Amino acid sequence: TIFPVILSGGTGSRLWPKSRALNPKQFLPLVDNKTMFQNTVSRLDTLDSVSAPLVIANEDHRFLVAEQLRLMGKKAEAIILEPFGRNTAPAVALASLKLLQSSEQNQETSSHESDQDPLLLVLAADHVIRDLDAFRLAVENALPAAKLGKLVTFGIVPTHAETGYGYIKAGSNEINSSDVDTDNTFYPVQEFVEKPDIETAHAYLSSGEYFWNSGMFLFKASRYLEELNKFRPDILSVCKNAMDSQNSDLDFVRVDQEMFESCPDDSIDYAVMEKTSDAVVVPLDAGWSDVGSWTSLAEISEKDELGNACLGDVILHDTRNSYVRSDKRLIATIGVDDLVVVDSDDAILVAHKNNVQDVKKVVEKLKAQG
Ligand code: GDD
Ligand code: MG
Repeated sequence: TIFPVILSGGTGSRLWPKSRALNPKQFLPLVDNKTMFQNTVSRLDTLDSVSAPLVIANEDHRFLVAEQLRLMGKKAEAIILEPFGRNTAPAVALASLKLLQSSEQNQETSSHESDQDPLLLVLAADHVIRDLDAFRLAVENALPAAKLGKLVTFGIVPTHAETGYGYIKAGSNEINSSDVDTDNTFYPVQEFVEKPDIETAHAYLSSGEYFWNSGMFLFKASRYLEELNKFRPDILSVCKNAMDSQNSDLDFVRVDQEMFESCPDDSIDYAVMEKTSDAVVVPLDAGWSDVGSWTSLAEISEKDELGNACLGDVILHDTRNSYVRSDKRLIATIGVDDLVVVDSDDAILVAHKNNVQDVKKVVEKLKAQG
C-alpha cells in the first residue's frame, strides 16, 4: 500500500489577492471548478493500492480540509493540524511518525509486511498534472526504488530558468539491482540544488543535464526519518516530542503547540534532499506545473491569438500577453502589454508579468501594517 501525504499548509502568498491567509490557494478553484486540493485528492484515484490520503495542514484550515473532502465524498486517513507552519521538512516528519505509529497499532491486523514501514507518496496540494496515465506510470516506476530504501524524486524536464524550483542532476548509471524485477527507469541523484540563483539556473538549463524537482517524493517512512536524523536531528527530535504529545479528536490530530513552537523552519529540499546520498530521480512527463504565481497560471490557461488569457467579465483592447481575471466587476484594458490584472472583493492587483514573484512582498507589507 502507498500512503499519500498531501502537504496543504502553504500560504500561497504570490497568488494574492485571491489567495488569502484564511483561504490560501490550495483551497481555491484556480484552474477549474475544483480546488487545487480537491484535484490532488482526485488524482489518487488513478493509482493502484493507495490508502486514503493523510492531509497535513494548518489549524486555521481544518474546516476547509474537512468540508472539501466531504463535498467529494472522500475521507482522510488522518488530518494532522499544525499550529503554525514550519515548512515541509517538519511536516513530512510528522506525517512519517504518524503513519509509523498507526502501522504499529495495526500490526496484528495487517497482513502486508510492507505496511509496517509505510511507503509515503508526498504530494504538494497545489500542482496541476494533466496526464494522469503518465503520473501513474511514474509512481509505478518509482516503487521498486522506494522499496529498496531510496528517496525517490520525480524530475521534470525544465523549460526555462526558473529560480523557484529545485534542480536535480541525474547520474548516468542506472541502478541495477537483482531486487528490482522490472526494467523501470530511475537514476541516482548526483546533485540536488534547491532554488539556485538566476545565473546558475540558466547554466543548468543550457547544460541539458538537470531536471526540475517536481516537489513530489516517494519513500519509506523510516528512511526519511533516518536521513532527517542524519542531517537535522534537531528537527526530528522536536517533531517526535510534538507527535508524542499529540491530541486527537475525530479525524484531527493536533501536534503539541508549545513543543512545535521551537521547531526549526526548513524545507525537505534543503534539510534532506540536497544532502542525502540515497536519492534517485524518476522522470515525470505528465503536463506538470506548479501553480506558484499568476504567470504560471497564465501559462497553463487558454490564450487568444494575442497571447491574452482572461477570465470573467473582461474587455481587452489593443492588449497583448496579459492575464486579466475578474470575479464580478468588468475589467477593461487598453494599450497595454505583459500585464497581470486580478480583481477580488476588496483588492485589485496590477503587476508587470516580469515582477509577479514580488506579489509576496506586497503581502508581507500588508502583514507588517497589521
Ligand atoms: N503542512 C504544511 N506545513 N505544508 C506546507 C508547509 C508547512 O509548513 N509549507 C509548505 N507546505 C506545502 C505547500 O502548501 C505546498 O503544497 C507544498 O508544501 C510545497 O511547498 P511550497 O512552498 O509550494 O514549495 P516550493 O514550491 O517553494 O518548492 C518546492 O516545490 C517545487 C516544485 O513545485 C520544492 O520541493 C522545490 O524543489 C520544487 O521544485
Ligand atoms: Mg510550490
